Amino acid sequence: MFCFIVFFCGQLILCLKIIISSFLIAVLLLFTIASIRTLSLDVNVGLQLARWEKTNNISLVIDHHQREELLANFKEAIRIPTVSFSEKESNTTALREFDRLLRKAFPTVFSSSLVRHELVANYSHLFSVQGSQPDLVPYLLLAHIDVVPASESDGWEAPPFSAKEIDGFIYGRGTIDDKSPLMGILQALEYLLIKGYAPRRGFYIGLGHDEEVSGYKGAMNIVRVLKQRSVQLSFVLDEGLAVLDGVISGLEGPAALIGISEKGSATVKLSVSMLPGHSSMPPSESSIGILAAAVKRLEENPMPRLFGHGPERGTFEHLAHKFGLPMKFIMSNLWLFAPLLGRVLERKPDTNAFVRTTTAVTMFNAGVKVNIIPALAEAYVNLRIHSAQSLQEVLDLIQSTVGDQRVKIELVNGFDPLPVSSADEKSFGFQIIKKTVLDIFPTVTVAPGICIGNTDSRHFKDLTNDIYRFAPVWFKPGDAQRFHGINERISKKNYEELIEFYFSLIQNCDIQKLPELVLPNLNYT
Ligand SMILES: *[C@@H]1O[C@H](CO)[C@@H](O)[C@H](O)[C@H]1NC(C)=O
Ligand SMILES: *[C@@H]1O[C@H](CO)[C@@H](O)[C@H](O)[C@H]1NC(C)=O
Ligand SMILES: *[C@@H]1O[C@H](CO)[C@@H](O)[C@H](O)[C@H]1NC(C)=O
Ligand SMILES: [Zn+2]
Repeated sequence: MFCFIVFFCGQLILCLKIIISSFLIAVLLLFTIASIRTLSLDVNVGLQLARWEKTNNISLVIDHHQREELLANFKEAIRIPTVSFSEKESNTTALREFDRLLRKAFPTVFSSSLVRHELVANYSHLFSVQGSQPDLVPYLLLAHIDVVPASESDGWEAPPFSAKEIDGFIYGRGTIDDKSPLMGILQALEYLLIKGYAPRRGFYIGLGHDEEVSGYKGAMNIVRVLKQRSVQLSFVLDEGLAVLDGVISGLEGPAALIGISEKGSATVKLSVSMLPGHSSMPPSESSIGILAAAVKRLEENPMPRLFGHGPERGTFEHLAHKFGLPMKFIMSNLWLFAPLLGRVLERKPDTNAFVRTTTAVTMFNAGVKVNIIPALAEAYVNLRIHSAQSLQEVLDLIQSTVGDQRVKIELVNGFDPLPVSSADEKSFGFQIIKKTVLDIFPTVTVAPGICIGNTDSRHFKDLTNDIYRFAPVWFKPGDAQRFHGINERISKKNYEELIEFYFSLIQNCDIQKLPELVLPNLNYT
């Protein structure tokens, strides 16, 4: 799952109209000029001006032969249909074939004395790379092998497991989610080891085989193995967000969003059971009618608006300086405008997801025969929990909204929103990822973001405080529909950039500690 989102496209204009019609703006402008300036300064600069210890000693130069080889490896990975059909059913033939591919494509990784490789839960992989300085806390790079199903008949331009090249793009299920980060990480390590690299800071690479069906076998067993060894991690980097280019309307230049949390989730079963009856003598209320009314109440009374109370606030504040007025002004002053912006964002489903815990009625079952009033009616509701709310609070709200004792409410499964990882100047993982992004893509704005879907990384929350969800995959308008959809693809250039990113990230992690923040001269002109 890539927890992807396209947000507030097209809504800024609307927002703008509302704002302009508000006379408040003139008065408040006076108060906030200073805060706008301070904010854009912080974000622009951060640790970028600081003096970083130089660790990026090995540079990556990909020659023609290597380019052919790395693309061939990647295409082979796409051609193996490692599909997770359900929690119980995956293509184990394909998973075994994938194992063979990894050993063939990355011989140095598998033979290096610095790398210990082990299979976990038969099909997942754990690589432990030894660092020369054991006092440096290790980190973990995470990716997953499995993909969601894909069928050519859905309208793909190229068969989904063909890895066909069209106009510089490689097409296929898994090209984004998640085989490009997976192969990119191992290809980067292969190149580093060939060049004689030995890390100072040790690290792990975890490859789960059932992420698309919750990671209960792969990721959870990798976590179990690491816990047995009392491993603590400096940070975890997994899939999640990406570089958005032209996706956020009004934003100047591309933005790299690094996911610092994930929404929680709950699946709730509602059921009504009554005595069955014949349709010739119906009671005044049927199990179907009672349940339908309960479901309707849930849809008509959405969970409370919480925009500005979770990490989405940081996203807006970090990006503010890349907007023109008045958006810059609004986004820099969410203390004032969050309720207003929340009302604008809730109008569309994709942006509403940032504003609140969402409620989706996904299944409704009752009745077997046209002339029998069914004894049982049941419905399932899937909720994605906003960071500022807990699973228990959501369950309590469902109870009070349904407000009918005859409706039985059961939690099928669920978990709280993930803790929010740090994203400040002292945050090792965030700053290393940010520096690596900016070294490779100097024009990008880096900001923390929130994942509205879930990834394997959530299973790692006992091993680290800081989990980041990001890969430098470039998304342009319309690309979000490709993942888990049709025509999933990545450009050859972007795949090479991924390799470069991990190649550089691994070396950047070798610093002993982050540099001190240098405050630039505050030169307002
Ligand atoms: C990189 O090079 C610098 C200076 O040549 C050296 O001090 C440092 O130890 C090297 N770092 C690594 C990780 O090899
Ligand atoms: C499972 O993967 C193998 C290749 O490893 C492939 O030949 C087979 O068709 C796949 N099965 C299904 C049901 O997709
Ligand atoms: C691994 O495979 C063995 C043998 O097929 C099986 O007994 C075991 O349950 C599998 N383990 C997991 C975690 O799937
Ligand atoms: Zn994924």
